[in-house]
Amino acid sequence: SLPIPLQAGEARHLPLRDLRLRYVDHEVVTDAQPGLSPTHGLPVRETGPRETLRVRLQDPVQAFFVTLCYRLTPEHDIIERWCELHNAGQDTVSFEICYFASLHLPGGANELTYVSGTWAREFTTHRERLAPGTHLIESRNLQTGHVANPFFFLNRPGQAWEETGVVYFGALAYSGAWQIAVEQLPTWDVRIHAGYHPFDFQLDLAPGETHVTPALVCGVSPDGWGGASRRLHAFTQDRVLPRSPQGPRLRPVLYNGWEATYFALSYESQAELARKAAAIGVELFCIDDGWFGARRSDDAGLGDWAVRADAFPQGLEPLVAEIQRLGMKFGLWIEPEMVNPDSDLYRQHPDWVLHFPARERTEFRHQLILDFGRAEVVEYIFNRLDALVERYSIAFFKWDMNRLATEPGSVVGKAIWRQHVAGVYAIMDRLRRKHPTLDIQSCSGGGGRIDLGILARTDQVWVSDNTDALDRIRIQEGFSLAYPARCMEAWVTHARNHQTGRILPLGVRFDVAMRGALGIGSSLNELDDAELAEYASYIAFYKRIRHVIQEGALYRLERLEEFQGSAIEYVLPDGREAVYAVALRDYQIGSYRPSPLLKGLIAGATYTVSDRCDQEVFRASGYELMTMGLPHAGNEQVGYSQTLYLKQV
Ligand code: DGJ
Repeated sequence: SLPIPLQAGEARHLPLRDLRLRYVDHEVVTDAQPGLSPTHGLPVRETGPRETLRVRLQDPVQAFFVTLCYRLTPEHDIIERWCELHNAGQDTVSFEICYFASLHLPGGANELTYVSGTWAREFTTHRERLAPGTHLIESRNLQTGHVANPFFFLNRPGQAWEETGVVYFGALAYSGAWQIAVEQLPTWDVRIHAGYHPFDFQLDLAPGETHVTPALVCGVSPDGWGGASRRLHAFTQDRVLPRSPQGPRLRPVLYNGWEATYFALSYESQAELARKAAAIGVELFCIDDGWFGARRSDDAGLGDWAVRADAFPQGLEPLVAEIQRLGMKFGLWIEPEMVNPDSDLYRQHPDWVLHFPARERTEFRHQLILDFGRAEVVEYIFNRLDALVERYSIAFFKWDMNRLATEPGSVVGKAIWRQHVAGVYAIMDRLRRKHPTLDIQSCSGGGGRIDLGILARTDQVWVSDNTDALDRIRIQEGFSLAYPARCMEAWVTHARNHQTGRILPLGVRFDVAMRGALGIGSSLNELDDAELAEYASYIAFYKRIRHVIQEGALYRLERLEEFQGSAIEYVLPDGREAVYAVALRDYQIGSYRPSPLLKGLIAGATYTVSDRCDQEVFRASGYELMTMGLPHAGNEQVGYSQTLYLKQV
């Protein structure tokens, strides 16, 4: 239906395989929402209206409109940019590539900071100068993925540092296959294209249909990489993370028994752990994998969300009652997108999994992925989870997702890449709408599902299965580039770490885990009374300072790349309280470290600096602390760590 009649032979040139866009009109509206915005109805911390500029463009020869949307959050210098695609013609329009935004950055902004990873090595920071051409940061999964995370920082080489220099930044609010293409043109201009991954992508818009993409959250910091992080953190805290009015203001101290018991669950072992956990100050007790179906190892049971009778002969009710009697909330692990072939669900519905007909169904960790392109599957999973919440008064789900898609065949074809994400979001939103006090932790074999899309419907994320404190310093530093400490669940685990075998003192394990939302994953049943008392003392300390960690602004005073250690500071907005945390990951005899200078304090105020035992160890003015720093304890070596609390007198 082109406006100009076709010439002879031209039909073979159709369909038009490009899109030209010309300005039509624009408007400023309030309360516009990007695609896949949460529908759970829970408020965020700042609910004030925001303006969105909508610029409407049209193809000159096709009845096809693209509206570029820019929602502003001026207090955090953030722009969310998304597109609305509308087909007003009479033919279906197919897209093979669709980004949420393309940014044209000033020439020369070609030093790129991003993260890569694998299981147990998430969030490894890279900083490199772009070569001419295109650098791809991407992930082709049904979840955000381990190999990269969807955010970037860009600056002129040598003209930005931790606290100074101009840094452009962006992060995708989307939890599926994504791509950020950073293109350096021969002119030194830099283009960023960020959105759906083009691999195996197809979006068909029938006549009259509209597609709204999720957003790229972006901005520019005049205060270096630290300023970019703080803008993203504040935006996430205020405008992304859900805040149930009935929920806790601060993240509770969690116990998770995965590394303590793995699949060997029983009422007795869990009840004993719960009693010890409550005694040391834990507030939320979560039972991990293994409580359901025929789940005695990872080769059976996924999909059968009914309590395992051999582990809990009386059901879960007595354990839930005991946990609540002890004053803790009850949490449960689930992996609802998955099924083991050895499960009743799969035996009943072998057609409910992603697969290509006649091809082998590749298993990973003995599991297959449910087809969330089927509305009946999404409905089934919602009903199973809803029933669990009702029956066991669940306050917290640890929502896991442990495999990649290898044969992504679905009843919805290529659209499964987007539909899977939409299905996960829909279940989470519906659960939270129905159960406003339910919290959710996003987990995907560690940190495989962390992004601003999932954070809009979860309260915290599991950053890595690697709980070794020294490895964790690096992982957490990479995480902190984009995401705030409040949602960074971090556990203290056994003295000999299960992933690395390294033995570390309790102090460093706590000092690193206390940098986020503290959790405990050690086998408490193996600790003696003196060790449990140490745990209790750290947890009590954490409770005294967590409002600063979870709500303060983060300064990375010393980064690993410079000092083989990390010193960070959290400061409340009024500058009256701060937390200083240092941990050394590497050390060479004879290398000295200058005292890091603190930030964000009130120059004329006096601060007491106190340790975990509430002992004052130092007293100084904000000016001294910001110009001379804290004195070193001396005797620093690998694993040296300390956490101090600063309070204005
Ligand atoms: C992967 C998670 O990251 C772990 O914490 C644990 O929950 C296991 N899955 C359980 O299978």
